[in-house]
Amino acid sequence: MEPSQSQSLPLLLLLYLAVTCASAAAAEGGESRLRYDSCYGCICEAASRCNRSLGCDDGACGLFRITRHYWLDAGAPTLPADARLLNDAFERCATDPFCALRTAHHYMERYRKDCNGNQQVDCHDLALLHFLGPSCEGTMPSAYTDEFDNCRFNALLLGAGDV
Ligand SMILES: *[C@@H]1O[C@H](CO)[C@@H](O)[C@H](O)[C@H]1NC(C)=O
Repeated sequence: MEPSQSQSLPLLLLLYLAVTCASAAAAEGGESRLRYDSCYGCICEAASRCNRSLGCDDGACGLFRITRHYWLDAGAPTLPADARLLNDAFERCATDPFCALRTAHHYMERYRKDCNGNQQVDCHDLALLHFLGPSCEGTMPSAYTDEFDNCRFNALLLGAGDV
């Protein structure tokens, strides 16, 4: 790992995202007043470096790399103006940072469990659910693990708080 590059740049992106997302989410109101806390921020860091410009590749879309299957399991949330039956409702939601966050939240609410058997449901469990699915068996690919652990370490150092 190259400490200076792999640690500081993603962290800046995370903080930028947290700030911009928090203000835009506040404007939306209601249920969508979700925030990119250090947990969801680090899951998207691991998934895509929180790159908000990402479209869809091989069926995985947006900054959380959400698949249609994942989105459906999460109750198929849509952008405020969109109907669920719209042909591209999935792509439009998964490539929108707030709709994608909402999707991940719903998914975690539905499947949350103690994946790693440490007697609590914490951010590490949410990451395992995100990358491995509801059974959350096995281990995350090391590229995800490295990015996630690194991000969590930095976030907790900065006092972003545990979730
Ligand atoms: C984010 O993704 C876009 C689209 O794939 C790419 O052009 C851009 O370089 C990426 N940005 C970063 C910071 O990786």
